[in-house]
Amino acid sequence: MKDRPRRLRATTAMRALVAETHVLPQQLIYPAFVREGITEPVAIQAMPGQFQHTLDSIRALACELVEAGVGGIDLFGVPDQARKDASGSQAWTTDGILNRAIAAVREEVGDQLVICADTCLDEFTSHGHCGVIRDDGVVDNDTTLELYAKMATSQAAAGAHMVSPSGMMDGQVEYIRTALDENGYTDVSIMAYSAKYASAFFGPFREAVGSTLCGDRKTYQQDPANRKEGVREALLDVAQGADIVMVKPASHYLDVVADVAAAVNIPVAAYQVSGEYAMIEAAARNGWINREQAIAESLVSIARAGADVILTYWALEYSRRS
Ligand code: PBG
Repeated sequence: MKDRPRRLRATTAMRALVAETHVLPQQLIYPAFVREGITEPVAIQAMPGQFQHTLDSIRALACELVEAGVGGIDLFGVPDQARKDASGSQAWTTDGILNRAIAAVREEVGDQLVICADTCLDEFTSHGHCGVIRDDGVVDNDTTLELYAKMATSQAAAGAHMVSPSGMMDGQVEYIRTALDENGYTDVSIMAYSAKYASAFFGPFREAVGSTLCGDRKTYQQDPANRKEGVREALLDVAQGADIVMVKPASHYLDVVADVAAAVNIPVAAYQVSGEYAMIEAAARNGWINREQAIAESLVSIARAGADVILTYWALEYSRRS
């Protein structure tokens, strides 16, 4: 027999030598939550090991990320419930919790991390939708774009290197790019949540941000059945000026990650979401799965599919092990 693929699997050293895919700390982004009005970090029940941070603890976390060589942080704000309103105005005020967190992290670590911010209204609206709602109950695309522009500009002013529109409104990338440029933020980049699916795997995140959503996001997030549409969305965002396009969730959408990676000539990100995290943590807690191996395998699979950048709640832990 001439062909014996097992030769290259014979020892640990041989396997390492010929591994096709590597996941490096520098390509990881840690999504993190900052909550208004707390004095100690609050554990997120459905995401064991993850916390809602205070402005102090997020600074400390940012320093740990730098030390571990993690590439970036993606900040989400959790405002006081009483401060939420129909348009989500805490999203763009200077003293809104997310903008304060961006400023704190930028002051703490400067350019040593890529500081990203979630550019979406759902954490800030009283109804929990990603945009403003018309009288007939529909999320209004074009009115929402104006608010995204204000939000992105305020995030750039607070010190974000990258804004990441995740609301799936049509035209959001172009609208935000124009607003950033008009306000002098030509160097602030856009990581577009391009192919974002209406997914049950966002479940634990809703607790993490204290979501008030009733119903679902199916009129703006994509149907999980659609693969070509993911490529269409990514190409639209490239044309609108996205610097990075993202597919989300990651593990159940690796076909979309691969298709998008083949279709675009800019970096592709994939977001390993809260439900992907929670499932592995829960199985590991029951002794049903080898936790470290499952984490590493899930990450390498996402990279193998074609993701250049991976958003993962394990970014810090994984990087410390690497
Ligand atoms: C919306 C947003 C969501 C997530 C990131 N940004 C939730 C949603 O669209 O319902 C989910 C992230 C995760 O589940 O880890 N701004």
